[in-house]
Amino acid sequence: MDTKKLLIFASGKGTNFEAIVKYFKNSDIIIELLSDKKDAPVLQKAKKYNIKSYFVEFKNIEEFLKNKNYDLYILAGFMRILPEEVMNKGKFLNIHPSLLPEYKGKNAILNTYKNNDKAGISIHYVTRDVDSGGIIFQKEIENYKTLDELEEKIHKLEHKFYPEIIENELIKKNVLIIGSGAREHILAEKIKESKFLNKLYLANPNDGFKNLGEVIEYKNYEELSYKAKFFGIDYLVAGAENPMADGIVDLFLSKGIKSFGCDKEFSKLESKKSYAKKLMQKFDIKTAPYVVIQQIEEIDSALKNFQFPPVIKADGLCFGKGVYIPESFSDAKKIIIEFLKGKFKDASKKVILEQRLYGNEFSLFSLYDGKKLLNFPLAKDYKKENSGDLGKNTGGMGSIAHYKCNFNLDEYNNKLLKLLASIKGYYRGVIYSGMIETNDGVYVLEYNVRFGDPEIQSLLQLIETDFIEIIDKTINSKLDKLNLKTEDNFASTVVMAAKGYPDNPKKGGEIKNIENVIKKYKVKIYYSGVKIKDDKTFASGGRILSVTKKGKNAISDIYKAIGEIEFKDKKFRDDIGS
Ligand code: GAR
Repeated sequence: MDTKKLLIFASGKGTNFEAIVKYFKNSDIIIELLSDKKDAPVLQKAKKYNIKSYFVEFKNIEEFLKNKNYDLYILAGFMRILPEEVMNKGKFLNIHPSLLPEYKGKNAILNTYKNNDKAGISIHYVTRDVDSGGIIFQKEIENYKTLDELEEKIHKLEHKFYPEIIENELIKKNVLIIGSGAREHILAEKIKESKFLNKLYLANPNDGFKNLGEVIEYKNYEELSYKAKFFGIDYLVAGAENPMADGIVDLFLSKGIKSFGCDKEFSKLESKKSYAKKLMQKFDIKTAPYVVIQQIEEIDSALKNFQFPPVIKADGLCFGKGVYIPESFSDAKKIIIEFLKGKFKDASKKVILEQRLYGNEFSLFSLYDGKKLLNFPLAKDYKKENSGDLGKNTGGMGSIAHYKCNFNLDEYNNKLLKLLASIKGYYRGVIYSGMIETNDGVYVLEYNVRFGDPEIQSLLQLIETDFIEIIDKTINSKLDKLNLKTEDNFASTVVMAAKGYPDNPKKGGEIKNIENVIKKYKVKIYYSGVKIKDDKTFASGGRILSVTKKGKNAISDIYKAIGEIEFKDKKFRDDIGS
């Protein structure tokens, strides 16, 4: 385990403090003590064990902690309710001498004894309500006669179990994934496999993978963040772009929960294309010439500056569907007017007109820890709806990893690092550079602030490193210590969508024979738009599921599997990987 710092809050005798100190004696754990009582015996104990201690008046605790950070905050006989601002510093644990929710508050042991009731201890996460957070551990005391005996038994249990639970909380993580697509499905699968997982929670999963974790219901992000504190979430994994653009990471950070993702400011790299293009130019990153159009009157003169056909892009977020290549000058004008008039609501009130580039497109995903970038192998996705790269843009119809392209990655990383360093905010996650290899070198088409779906389905088949370790090192700015082990192999994914996708996917059709094809062809299935009712699976969205497999000949098994999945509204591309 890396070095970790604990702050123990205690204002009593400090027998729990002592037990914790002894337990971690020869470890890399650094312990400090805070007491709000000047004459508390626990302060003497700290001296005895050479533990750094602070006496801080209760009203000054928030100010005292302002520029300090600890990995975990431990309440051990600290008999006051801390203000929310203090608890928003990070994760807090408490120990209480009763079987919560019974006998909350003071004199728990005495009151249990008086009622001759069931006795025991509880260790729980701390929320702003009294003794109310999610329970991590409880142990009942079988029988007791006198009050002294009960007290002794309680303390014995506390001293045995509190340090062990603290150690587990330091090593193992509670992770919350938000998102409902196949990307979040594979993230859940990878996180579930991690040896560092304590418990996995899911916000808004689809029916196809909700059984991989405990589902948290919520009405808004504020409520979700409250529940995340309740359950002691260590890391939020923000799968998709929209929650980040709406500020979910900012909110969770303000509650002391770290995220694998970025804040609202950084999310503009994806949610405002004009912003990203400007920065690419500033940092000398090759990107296609472009203009921004905001008024209908600007269209004619803008179009004249581009070789036909240019690319028309909505400035904002459109689930990958806001890109259009016009067939004629009048078609271009018509589309731009539709965009400006709100085809994608506010997302298309600004339009980017860009010189079209020709070549092979590919995807570069990099981890970013605020200081360093670490690249995944290259991948490729297939954005057009039909085989042969024809038809409309979609969220993605298939992918392969890894993809080979020779270009100066170090030089690119240096430029991208400078670009990222110029933005003020929080970014500890994945950045996608959408690239194209042209006769004139490699250009960047766009940035995304997350993994791409369906690239991740293929890419993560090749990653051998524990996924929570990846998250942990990224979030804690330790990518220099991460060994990203990748298998030298190939993986492919074919997306099965519903007829009518991307404009009007047909919903409601039943999908059968999935379990069979999984067994027969050893493929993996990641769900997107499905509803499961009475063990039957129904289409409920545009992209229904992804079929993924690793190995050189995987693609033929994937197509056999897709062929045998029974779904009358099936739509897929038959040229993935070719
Ligand atoms: C412990 O029994 C702990 O459970 C209790 O205070 C005692 C502290 O003893 N905490 C609470 O009642 C919290 N509501 P210590 O100072 O000897 O560790």
